[in-house]
Formats: sequence, C-alpha cells, structure tokens
Amino acid sequence: MGFRLNYIFFYKLRNTLRMTGKSADLKNLKFYIHTFGCQMNNNDSEHIAGILDSCGANPSDSLEESDLVVINTCAVREKSEEKLYSLLGRLNSIREKKEKNFAIGVVGCVAQLHRSKLLEKMPHIDFILGPDNYWQIPEIIPKHHEEKIISTKWSKDWHEIPDEQTLRTSRVSAFVTIMEGCNNFCTYCVVPYTRGREKFRPAPHILTEIQELAQNGYKEIQLLGQNVNSYIDPNSQMGFVKLLRKVNTVEGIDWIRFIASHPKNFSTDIAKAMKESERICHQLHLPVQSGSSSVLHRMNRGYTRKEYQQIIKDLRRQMPDICLSTDIIVGFPGESDKEFQETMSLLEEIRYTNIFSFRYSPRPLTKAENITDDVPFAVKKERLIAVQELQKNIQIETNQSLIGSTIKVLCTGKSKKDQNIYSGRNKGYQVINFSSKKKVMDQFVNVQITSCGPYSLRGHTV
Ligand code: 5AD
Ligand code: SF4
Repeated sequence: MGFRLNYIFFYKLRNTLRMTGKSADLKNLKFYIHTFGCQMNNNDSEHIAGILDSCGANPSDSLEESDLVVINTCAVREKSEEKLYSLLGRLNSIREKKEKNFAIGVVGCVAQLHRSKLLEKMPHIDFILGPDNYWQIPEIIPKHHEEKIISTKWSKDWHEIPDEQTLRTSRVSAFVTIMEGCNNFCTYCVVPYTRGREKFRPAPHILTEIQELAQNGYKEIQLLGQNVNSYIDPNSQMGFVKLLRKVNTVEGIDWIRFIASHPKNFSTDIAKAMKESERICHQLHLPVQSGSSSVLHRMNRGYTRKEYQQIIKDLRRQMPDICLSTDIIVGFPGESDKEFQETMSLLEEIRYTNIFSFRYSPRPLTKAENITDDVPFAVKKERLIAVQELQKNIQIETNQSLIGSTIKVLCTGKSKKDQNIYSGRNKGYQVINFSSKKKVMDQFVNVQITSCGPYSLRGHTV
C-alpha cells in the first residue's frame, strides 16, 4: 500500500470554471495520479490534474475506483525508476485479476528517457508522454483503446498551462514554474536528456499567475525550475534578479521562495535582491554536490569549493539569518577518501539547516556512465551514513537553539489521527509539528518551540 502515501489530493477550487471547460469528452472519468520525484513533478501533476478536471474528469483518492491511473515519473536515480517498475507491476496484477479495469499512463522523465523501450518492458502501459507532452492527455485518452500512444517530442517554445487548468494540492502555498530544462550537463545527471534544453516562461504569465494566486488567498509561492537563476524573459530579456524584484511587489503574498539555484551563476545581485525584498524568505537551496574541487571538476559543476564558500559567505554577510540547504552526492566515480573528507569538512563549516544526500547512481546517456563506477557499494553506503550522521548532529544542535523561541509558521498539514495536531514550515523552510486547540489549517500561526528532533521542531500555538 506504500505507494498510495505519495498520492496527491487536489483541491477543487474552480468548480464553476471546470463546467465551462472546452471538452466534455472525459466527463465523469475518475483519475488517480501518483507522483515520484521533485517539486517540478508535483507541479506538473497539478497541471495534469487541472487539464483533466477542465475536461470534466474528477480526481479520485481511490485507485480501485479510478478509470485512469497516471504515473508521473522521476529518472534522477535508479532507485526511483525501480519504484516505478514495482508500482507498474502491482497495477498490472490488479488489472489482470479484473479487480479493476483502468487505463495506465506513464508520463514525465522516465517516459522521456525510455520511450518505446518502456512499452517493451511493461506492455500493459496504455500511453507514454514526456514532460513536454502531458498537456496532450485529453486527446490521447479517448484513443488509447485503439492503439498504444507514445509522445515525447520536445518543443522549443513554452507551453502555457493557464491557472484555471491547475488543480493545486494546497490552498495557501503554490508552485509557479518559471523555466524548464537544463543546459548544464553535470556529468552524473540525466535531467538534460529528460527535460531538454532550458526554456523560459514569459514574465507577464508568471506575474499574472502570482497575482491571481494572491487574489485566491495564497500566501506563499515557490518559483520553480531546474536552474531558476538562469531565467531570462524570452521577450523582454529581463533576468532573474529583476523578476524576483517584480514578484516581490505582488500584494497579498507573504512568503516567496525559489528552487533550484545553481552556484555556477549565483550572483551577489541575487543575494542583494533577497535581502532588499521584504517578501522573499531568507532561505536558499544551493546544491553543492561535493566539497572537493577535483570532484566538482569531474562532475562539470563549473565552480570550485572556494567559489562556493565565497557565495555562502556573501549570502551570510547580507542575510545573517539565512537558512541554507543543499544536495550531496557521495561515491562519485574516483572519489577518494581525501576528497570525501572535503565534503565532510564543508558540511561542518557551512552548517546547513537541512541536506539531501544520495549515493551516486550511474544514469543512462550521462558522461559519468562511461567512467567506471569504482567506489564500492559498501564504501558509498559508509560515506552516506557518515554524511547523514554528521548532518544529523548539526541539525540537533541548530534545532535545540530554537527551543523556547516563538516562530511564525504557515500551517499546511494536519494529522489524520489527532485533530489538534498540525504541521507547517517557518520562513527558513524547517518542518514544525505543533498542537493547536483552534482550527488553523492554511493559516499563519505563532508557534512556541518546546522540543525538537534532528528533522523537525515541535511546539504549540501561542
Ligand atoms: N546519482 C545520485 N544523485 C543524483 N542526483 C542527480 N543525479 C544523480 C545521480 N546520478 C542528485 C543531485 C541533484 C539531486 C536532485 O539529485 O544531488 O541535485
Ligand atoms: Fe542536473 Fe546539473 Fe542540470 Fe541540476 S544543473 S538538473 S544537477 S545537469
């Protein structure tokens, strides 16, 4: 049953609009979306749900009752691909046992990467759509009975999905995609082959969407893209810093974040714009991947340890309260003990609020796939444990320093078991679980922190 935990429930905020949608083809069709991977995928799933909804289909939180199952996939590591195959296997056995007859669509990065090979491996899939093609879903569904459909062609132009075709998972916190694709070709990364080259969403569309979100009561927005700081408006050539400053002027939005940034082109102007814009949270995810300049060079990251340290120094000079997070890969081909220790010492020095750490996993089409994956699995495992242990202790220390303080939290979740228990995040994007006698879902609250673990803070409303 594990996979259902990842199911996204969509709020239906636009019941009136959906009935005026352009197609009634899918009327009463029940769909279920399972999402693997990053926030970009979550936002894509919100678009898929919105497109289906605008054609008359209905989101369902029960697989058994659905007529269509869409799996939005992630290809970044082998493990996420393996999870897809196990989910597909399970869906097939449900369908074979005739417990339920549903159409199965695989969309997103794995669909793009493997295309027809995916069908050879899993012939029970009905359609395959790449990350640039999921908007074709309404045309495809009526045809899937006649033929298997594969559509994975990239387009150079931005395909705008209007806000009324987006079913969001939160009523207060919204993702807003501003760019897609990647030109960086880090040697370990499959994303440039699944998401294509960088393309940018026109700024007026971004700003209109954010204004509409503000009017609909949204309080937090997260600008999304594989590399947001390379943003350039395709028409006016306005860059990311100017975009940030414009987004900051939208009345009604309290917190603005953006993810992901690349250290290679993270200029001091961005830090300055963050400091000077009252709505932009002093929080940043800046993936470093490794603390060793020689590994960074082999990864084709385009910066050295020293340059990265300089960016962090500048960020902290401008915003002493900034909360930083990062991504770490251990066991990249050729990573020596000495090189690994440089990652450890960087973590000790920077003291991130949170990290995401991974064992290197060779991916198809990437340059690193052709270099021998020579760090033994046991060593990768040991290094991952070491990184996570070190970071855990750092987080315990930083979290303990917050005990007794009162923190502003945007409440975005509530416990199913106990109606007085809620969860949310603070400006620094830390997870806070708290109790409240009043109903506070989707609201800002002040929480007094009373205890903590390494990965979350606990408290009660005041
Ligand atoms: N192996 C392990 N981790 C990877 N990532 C990307 N590609 C790989 C890979 N081949 C990690 C990076 C990236 C995050 C999204 O996933 O740390 O920042
Ligand atoms: Fe992958 Fe590097 Fe592009 Fe990030 S910047 S998506 S890690 S290739």
